[in-house]
Parts: sequence; structure tokens; C-alpha cells
Amino acid sequence: MSAPMDRNTTPAPLSKTNSDFRLFDEVDLPLLVERMGTPLHVYSSNTIRQRIYALHSALQGLDTLICYAVKANANLAILQLMAKAGVGADIVSVGELRRALNAGIPAERIVFSGVGKNADEIAGALNVGILRFNVESHDELLTLQRVASAQEVVASAAVRINPDVDAQTHAKISTGKSENKFGVSIDEARRWFTARKSLSHVQLDGLHVHIGSQILSLDPFRCAFERVAAFWRELEQAGHPIRSIDVGGGLGVCYREGVDHPIDAADYVGVIRHALAGYQGRLLLEPGRYLVAEAGMLLTRVVRIKPGVERQFLVLDAAMNDLQRPSLYDAWHDIVPVIDQGRPMTTYDIVGPVCESGDTFARGRELPECEAGDLLLIRATGAYGASMASTYNSRPLAAEVMLQNGRYAVVRRRQHFEEMIAGEQPARNWETP
Ligand code: LLP
Repeated sequence: MSAPMDRNTTPAPLSKTNSDFRLFDEVDLPLLVERMGTPLHVYSSNTIRQRIYALHSALQGLDTLICYAVKANANLAILQLMAKAGVGADIVSVGELRRALNAGIPAERIVFSGVGKNADEIAGALNVGILRFNVESHDELLTLQRVASAQEVVASAAVRINPDVDAQTHAKISTGKSENKFGVSIDEARRWFTARKSLSHVQLDGLHVHIGSQILSLDPFRCAFERVAAFWRELEQAGHPIRSIDVGGGLGVCYREGVDHPIDAADYVGVIRHALAGYQGRLLLEPGRYLVAEAGMLLTRVVRIKPGVERQFLVLDAAMNDLQRPSLYDAWHDIVPVIDQGRPMTTYDIVGPVCESGDTFARGRELPECEAGDLLLIRATGAYGASMASTYNSRPLAAEVMLQNGRYAVVRRRQHFEEMIAGEQPARNWETP
């Protein structure tokens, strides 16, 4: 059965934002910003709960565990919310492992993915008894065997299949094509299973696949899951029991209203049910973005309007260090004024203060005319927003706030200058290595 959680009660419907976006999870955003300043990441806890609920409902009747992809948003408060809802974690580093454990996610609900796990990381994860390693190369498999043998434990492992499927998403977040660094071919995985008995300390009895992120069409999922399902059937027939199949993450969200049409959770699970019909083992899912992206917004104020020769620039106090997605992937995020004062529309290049032309949130974007001090929302920033932030240009990390039914809680205070430079020191103590 699905992991237990407080989901017998349907969460309250998401507090609808006004047409002027003043309220989010019933919190008055202009008032909040007066207290907290900008730039400010806000997260609606009710929206996250709704997403968890929608996925759990779609999965009803299946033996499943949702392992939230921590990289999407690793804030401890978000992880605590996941823990309370019975959600596990998909981690890719010891840092994420420690965060997940710290937030109360039990080790037996944690899976470890990633192509670069080193022996120390593997040892750390084995030590705490995580559920599974999603193994991505033969060298990693041998390292796992070596480390598990030294610890005198048996590690549970799944092989990450690279199904050579085009996820029809941005090239930088596509992971399931044979040219990508992730996973191994079915041919190689077959050889691992044939030799699996030679591994005294690794129980190889799982399959894993994750073909990419921000996927808005069911076809790539269908194609990948069917390839994995055919392989599972072949393995079972050859006498290799498969106790869990991990279908990864990748469900897309709406970044551009009216243009992005995300897949419904029930349709997505329908594809899984169909491809894996008859499968008796446990199903693992690793959603990241789906659970948190639309629960987050980045609040920012207009610093000034700068008319240029060719373009008109709207300069914000948020920058690429707070939200990298537009500069890294040319990603679209809807940007709206918190209070629509019915001003006429105009066209801006919306930029941050960082000294790079790439510090651009949007080019040629239609927006009501703005003035210095206006409050804007950059929407759907809950995933891969704060988690990818940096202090580039020595800009401190923005504060993060959780919202719930009209109240807020600071879940990361704004970084102080001293914190930002902590650990740095003058080159005084010269040593020879
Ligand atoms: N599982 C594995 C093994 C992954 O590598 C990822 C994401 C996920 C699950 C979660 O995928 P999601 O459900 O969030 O699509 N920074 C990029 C996204 C990178 C995704 C990396 N892997 C962005 O901002 O679009």
C-alpha cells in the first residue's frame, strides 16, 4: 500500500489568488513583503499538500512509495512537510541525505541516484541503511559491492536504465537519450543481471528510469515505461525477481499560463498502470518539480525603469543568482504585478542587477506599465529556484517563507554578509602539501 500519511482528509482547496495576485495561501503578499523585504521566495504549503494528495490518490491500490527529488527544493521545512505526508526522498549527495534524515524522512524511504557517487558517499548511505541505490555504471556497482562487503551488509540496488527515449524537453534537462551520461543500456543491464550472483554484497533486484524533467507529453513516458516493462518481463522469465521499479520524476508544470498544459497526475499514473500491468513489486516515484514548483513564487521589487536605445529595461531587485532557470535554460516564468492597477500594457526586457547580459528573466515581455517600487511576482519558482541559488556578485541568499492559511513562517532567514563570507580568510598561513 502507499506510504501512510495524513491524507485521509482532503486538503482545503488552494486559496485562489486574486486576479491581482495579492493573496497566496491567504497571505497578504504586500504586507508580508513589508516585513520580510525582497527578493523573497514564498511557498504555499497547501499547494504542496494538494500535489501530494493528487499523486497519492492517482496511485491508490498500487504498492508505491513517492520519493521526493530533494534537489528541486531542499529547504528543511519543505522536507519536513514531505516527511509528515509519508513521502520519502530521492537524494544525489550526502548533503541531501543529511537534510532528508534531519527533516525526519526515515532512511528506509530514501533512494540514492546520480552518476558520481563516490565510495565515501556510498559508505555513508549504507551506514544509515537507505532503501536503495540507483546504480548508474558498472564501476559504481563494483564500488557498491566493495563498500558493502567491507561493512558486512547487503546493499539493495536497482540498475538505472537509459532507454534512449527523447523526453521532448530542454536539452540540458533531458537524461534518457543514449548520448546522455545517465544510466546504462538494456544490453549492459542484462549482463549485470546475468552476473548478479557474483555480487556477494549487492542484491540487484530493481529497475530505475528517469528520462528528463519538465515533460509535458505522455508519449515519452509511455515509450520509456514500455521499454522498462519489457525488460522486467524478460528478467522475471530468466529467473531474476524484480522487487521494485522506480519510474523517476519528470512531470512538467505550468510556467506559462495558456501555453503549458501539464499532464494530469491520473493520466500519468494511467500510463504507468498500463505499461506495468501485472507487476506485483513495489513502484517508486521520484517527482520533484510537480510537487513544489507551482507552490513557489519569487517576490521582487522594481528598482528602476531604464530606457535603452533599442529596448526598455525593467530592472528588478531579484537576479539570476536568486533564480537561474531563465538564464540557464531560457526558461519562461510568468511575471505579474502583485496589484494590477489597470495601467496600460507595455513591453520590457525584465532584468536583474547582476553584471551579465544573461541576467535576464524575460525579453520583450508585455506587462502593465511599472514604476520603481512596484511589487512583482515571478511565478512557479518553488522548484529549482532557491535550491539553485548562489551568492554571485556577492548578493546574499534571499529569505524563504512558508505560507499557510493566512499565516507565514520564515524557513530561511535572509543571509547576512558575515555568513556569506564565513570560511574565507586572507592567505596568511602558507603550507606545503
Ligand atoms: N529523479 C532523478 C534521478 C533526477 O535526476 C531528477 C531531476 C528527478 C528525479 C526529479 O525530476 P523532476 O520531477 O523535478 O522533473 N534544474 C533543472 C531541472 C534538473 C532536473 C534534474 N534531475 C530545471 O530547473 O529545470
